[in-house]
Amino acid sequence: MSKKYYIETLGCAMNVRDSEHMIAELSLKEGYEEADSIEDADLILINTCSVREKPVQKLFSEIGQFAKRKKEGAKIGVCGCTASHLGEEIIKRAPSVDFVLGARNVSKITEVLHKPKAVEVDIDYDESGYAFGEFRTSPYKAYINISIGCDKQCSFCIVPHTRGEEISIPAELILQEAKKAAQTGAKEIFLLGQNVNNYGRRFSSDHPKMNFTGLLRAVSEIEQIERIRFTSPHPLHMDDEFLEEFAKNPKICKSMHMPLQSGSTGILKQMKRGYSKEWFLNRAQKLREMVPDVSISTDIIVGFPGESEADFEDTMDVVEKVRFEQIFSFKYSPRPMTPASEYERQVPDEVASKRLKRLQDRHNEMLDEMKVQRLGKIYEVYFEELKPGGMVAGRTDNNWLVKAEGSEELLGKTAKVKIVETSRLGNIGEIVA
Ligand code: SAH
Ligand code: F3S
Repeated sequence: MSKKYYIETLGCAMNVRDSEHMIAELSLKEGYEEADSIEDADLILINTCSVREKPVQKLFSEIGQFAKRKKEGAKIGVCGCTASHLGEEIIKRAPSVDFVLGARNVSKITEVLHKPKAVEVDIDYDESGYAFGEFRTSPYKAYINISIGCDKQCSFCIVPHTRGEEISIPAELILQEAKKAAQTGAKEIFLLGQNVNNYGRRFSSDHPKMNFTGLLRAVSEIEQIERIRFTSPHPLHMDDEFLEEFAKNPKICKSMHMPLQSGSTGILKQMKRGYSKEWFLNRAQKLREMVPDVSISTDIIVGFPGESEADFEDTMDVVEKVRFEQIFSFKYSPRPMTPASEYERQVPDEVASKRLKRLQDRHNEMLDEMKVQRLGKIYEVYFEELKPGGMVAGRTDNNWLVKAEGSEELLGKTAKVKIVETSRLGNIGEIVA
């Protein structure tokens, strides 16, 4: 009988892809299959996130739960960014953990499996040329990494310390993977990296020069691919060449993530983001002019050390002006190894909570205004998922979630859908063609 894995994936899209890579390695080299439950698994993996403190605190209670529920002899592995960051401390604090595998050591999964108490967390390890086996969670959509690590050193962010320096993956590997995915039914490709529009600045060995715009063009030349998405681009690198390619390439989905973090130029400087409020507004306005249907999402941190009421008003001002279709907002969380955690003038929690609530309340009002505008409109929806009650779900080109009546035969297909009901986050539609 084959061995079984159970995997829990927390955090960002890069973790989702890392989990897929681990599953591919485990099934290819060790014959593993997915378990129905924790109790049934021979191997339990937790792929962790360490961007904020809360999930890290939760990790240890979760390990305790898993240790109680697991069957005799089953192994527990802690992977991802918290693994990189805490290393062997995880095994010291939680002796039921069998191995610790860092976010930049994913290809070693089948090695650590056989080394008792292994800790592999080297953030200089170069996996940019490693050809992982194939595994996709969705047959209709393929996540593809285009770089590892991040060179940006934003002063609040732990990621450069958990995923190491930025290295681009050779274009020929990315294109090979995209072609294979397209041939096996994925009409949508999702390109992943911490800083995607910085692509091509550094490869680990000699490679033909290619920047992100060039890569987008090359991927869009693959015939069976109909939709291309990517995350995360950095506002600093949103030059005209990139925006023009985004606007005119019909295969690139018209949904852009523009992580703002703060609307105050002073705070942006302290954050080491490399752009000002004016640059961000200029890029967002240019994008809306070039692509009237675009939806723009963002990440915002409130309560960064030294953030005054006036700084926060600047953030609210950008929110008013850009009218983001989606905002991921967080209270600042001090992280070890980051310069901002040592800055003076940390903002009291009650102040940060108040600002977060004001931001979210105002954005909800804006979403209520936006949702009315979608009503009655017709969008092309690419259906990817079955939902209970005879429904299927998919996304419009500009990333609205839409559910419609339908069954399996719609999956992997695009249909024209008229929006008949709408809420802040999702829409119900009727297929019209
Ligand atoms: N390169 C990615 C960022 C990855 S971290 C990007 O540019 O989108 C994802 C998000 O977590 C960041 O955009 C930021 O908004 C948030 N984040 C990172 N560190 C944080 C911290 N110390 N406190 C609160 N939020 C943080
Ligand atoms: Fe973090 Fe800034 Fe890189 S938010 S992932 S250091 S772009």
